[in-house]
Amino acid sequence: MSKILVTGGAGYIGTHTCVELLNKGEEIVVLDNFSNSNPSAIDAVEKITGKSVKVYEGNMIDREILEKIFTENDIDAVIDFAAYKAVGESVQKPVEYYTNNVSTVLVLLDEMKKHNVKTLVFSSSATVYGDPERIPITEDCRVGGTTNPYGTSKLMVEQILQDLYKSDNEWNIAILRYFNPVGAHESGLIGEDPKGIPANLMPFISKVAAGKLPQLSVFGNDYDTKDGTGVRDYIHVVDLACGHINALDKLKKDGSGMHIYNLGTGVGYSVLDMINAFEKANNIKVPYKIVDRRPGDIATCYSDPTKAREEIGFVAKKSLEDMCRDAWNYEHNKIG
Ligand code: UD1
Repeated sequence: MSKILVTGGAGYIGTHTCVELLNKGEEIVVLDNFSNSNPSAIDAVEKITGKSVKVYEGNMIDREILEKIFTENDIDAVIDFAAYKAVGESVQKPVEYYTNNVSTVLVLLDEMKKHNVKTLVFSSSATVYGDPERIPITEDCRVGGTTNPYGTSKLMVEQILQDLYKSDNEWNIAILRYFNPVGAHESGLIGEDPKGIPANLMPFISKVAAGKLPQLSVFGNDYDTKDGTGVRDYIHVVDLACGHINALDKLKKDGSGMHIYNLGTGVGYSVLDMINAFEKANNIKVPYKIVDRRPGDIATCYSDPTKAREEIGFVAKKSLEDMCRDAWNYEHNKIG
């Protein structure tokens, strides 16, 4: 049976997608160098699904490991999650970010071409819209104006993929622009576990609730939003994972094409909404204080999810309460 190669399959979104793929009966092969994840995440995927996962440990920049994977397995599609994703760190380490997020993809594409595997689902981000032209954001909104190497690296790969498709329209590519993935699998066995102090809102809230950090800093309450705090499109990571299945089904059905989809809910919540929802869902206090705006932040960012709904049948099903409950369940599971 043909298999799907999942690069970065041990990471946050990767593990959740592996679970959905395995539950659907797909066979998968994971490539991960565990630079920002742990082999135990794969054990957890196996535990959740009762299925085994073949793992190759290595870096995608290493042509030999890709060569080995494509030779040893009958791969017919790739889902590429392998990338660094910390915005602040990318400003400090641009060379590492461009190498890890762009150069590696070039090696992957070359190897795919060599082995005549032309179906690819690529992890992109709403960050490619920069300061969005309009809200809600549709896929045809202008991209660019990214303010950090992480965002620029995603934009560069999107451009590379478009050029590739133009050069050879046998390629079959879906670029998925994620909004703000949060939450965890309901088992509490996999979730987001950033090393050090989290930069993103939801993992920070979880750590404050767990008493591991004293309080949350809310970055600004003077934005032009309903309560002055930043508004984002938070999407449950299991919904997001399912979006990859929808995209893959579409690619398999069509045979070739180049598609871009927003994966979001279409609903924006403020930072204060998130704190309140977390407190209510989990019956726990999240102490916070208002501080200055974080440089580079925008006021409002949420998707228009219509295209993904109409073309690939993707609809996010889980509620804000599910996101908060599952995020806390995962954090709590780690302490308890
Ligand atoms: C960030 C990245 C984005 C990336 C995404 C991944 C920036 C500028 N953007 O998006 O490129 O794709 O994460 O999920 O970093 N907030 C607080 N206190 C905190 C943390 C966050 O008030 O301690 C606020 C932010 O100001 C923002 C909202 O919470 O309004 C969400 O922040 P965050 O989770 O970092 O996501 P984004 O900034 O949307």
